[in-house]
Amino acid sequence: MPLFALRRAARAALASLIVGVGGLSMPVAHATGTADAAASDHSLSNAAELGKLIFFDASLSASGRMSCASCHSPSHAYGPPNGLAAQIGGPDMRSQGTRAVPSLRYTLNRTPIWTHAQAASLSERLSETDNAPSGGFGWDGRFNTLHDQASFPLFNPDEMANKDPAALLAKLQHTPYAARFKDVFGQNIFVDPAKAFTQAMYAVERFELEDDSFHPYSSKFDAYLDGKAQLTVQELHGKKLFDDPAGGNCASCHIDQSGANGAHPLFTDFNFQSLGVPRNPELRANADPHYYDMGLCGPLRTDQAADKTNCGLFKSPSLRNTATRRVFFHNGRFHTLKDSLRFYVQRDTQPAKWYPRDAHGKVVKFDDLPPSMRVNVDTTDEPLTRKQGERPAWTERDIDDVAAFLATLNDGYVPETKARALKTSSR
Ligand code: HEC
Ligand code: HEC
Repeated sequence: MPLFALRRAARAALASLIVGVGGLSMPVAHATGTADAAASDHSLSNAAELGKLIFFDASLSASGRMSCASCHSPSHAYGPPNGLAAQIGGPDMRSQGTRAVPSLRYTLNRTPIWTHAQAASLSERLSETDNAPSGGFGWDGRFNTLHDQASFPLFNPDEMANKDPAALLAKLQHTPYAARFKDVFGQNIFVDPAKAFTQAMYAVERFELEDDSFHPYSSKFDAYLDGKAQLTVQELHGKKLFDDPAGGNCASCHIDQSGANGAHPLFTDFNFQSLGVPRNPELRANADPHYYDMGLCGPLRTDQAADKTNCGLFKSPSLRNTATRRVFFHNGRFHTLKDSLRFYVQRDTQPAKWYPRDAHGKVVKFDDLPPSMRVNVDTTDEPLTRKQGERPAWTERDIDDVAAFLATLNDGYVPETKARALKTSSR
């Protein structure tokens, strides 16, 4: 095994020490050496192989035209294949969801379970960092396991839209892999619908946790951390701007340091914040002026609604592969990375650029939350602290540099020397 592959194997082992929702430790003995090989990973368990078939099977939707992969496209880092704010699905493929599709890369086996540590004392409660909610799957962290999460899109009327588990199982029994499902889970598995359904969701979870294509660690930034690539002057300047606590301060939430155990960073802290992203008229649900997606406090999530300080908070996403996306933030309000960066540094200095005006001509900041909840929006973390008319934390040139740095997080990096060799050999 080349040294490169050994290191990768060691890293995979270390990464599995981080106890995530996956808990179940990652298989270690399948280091492939190159990320390109990840697409054909032959070390999947039987359950994971079945989960893969389910993940890509459009026949399991009410429309017959939508699979998990329709929204989580493997050639787009398991994110959306297009720039739609929310995807179109449902029984007749005409319903629009309410949230942007997140990438499934990297986070799945390292997401901590949902926690909302309550402050032990009053003085702790007054300090800002005490009870930061964190973890769980979905923009609002409402699922603690991947098998629970998987059942949501299968029955959501805007997505795969199955009526109930019985409808799904009827379809599953007619797939070409139904016999294989029985071989793995028992010949009588379909006699017990509850058990068959549980095993199907477990299979999807195994695929998501085991398949290397969900965590290839093949970006230029990974190569840089391993001492195998150098960042350009521009990329390094972008990183400096990204890290600077008094400037972009991005790394305080989108962590870019390796873990104590050497695990490469995921560019998220899995915490929740309210950034005050402007309302998105592209979402049909927003035609109703009384509809608000308030993340932790609903309407999709229901168990945290009593605590109004939760309203408007969404989970910080990983920024790996974000430069390949065409839709950003929970409501898909922005369609270019640079606009997303401009929003951070100009939200408060030039609010009129981002928010609409009311009937009296006054700019309505944080218009995607009910007026009483707008106090929850983060105005204490840099660069979200400035006042109208002040100088933004970054210039346009800085934004170019940060965008260049973030592009080093795209998977599939081919080192210069290798790229040159490939070019000459193909002549
Ligand atoms: C119609 C598009 C669509 C389809 C089909 C779809 N998803 Fe999703 N997926 C989403 C959206 C949107 C979210 C964010 C949901 C939220 O915050 O409520 C999401 C979130 C997730 C998450 C949470 C990721 C995280 O890091 O928090 C996982 C895991 C996931 N989907 C897996 C699946 C699986 C497995 C299937 C198939 C059974 C599937 N999805 C089908 C759109 C889709
Ligand atoms: C206080 C924590 C925090 C800080 C600081 C922060 N972010 Fe974020 N970031 C978040 C959260 C939370 C979201 C999701 C918010 C939402 O969708 O409403 C997010 C979303 C994003 C997204 C959208 C990604 C996607 O897949 O949709 C990008 C890009 C991003 N941040 C970049 C940055 C950059 C660049 C900086 C520095 C200027 C930064 N962030 C600073 C917490 C933070």
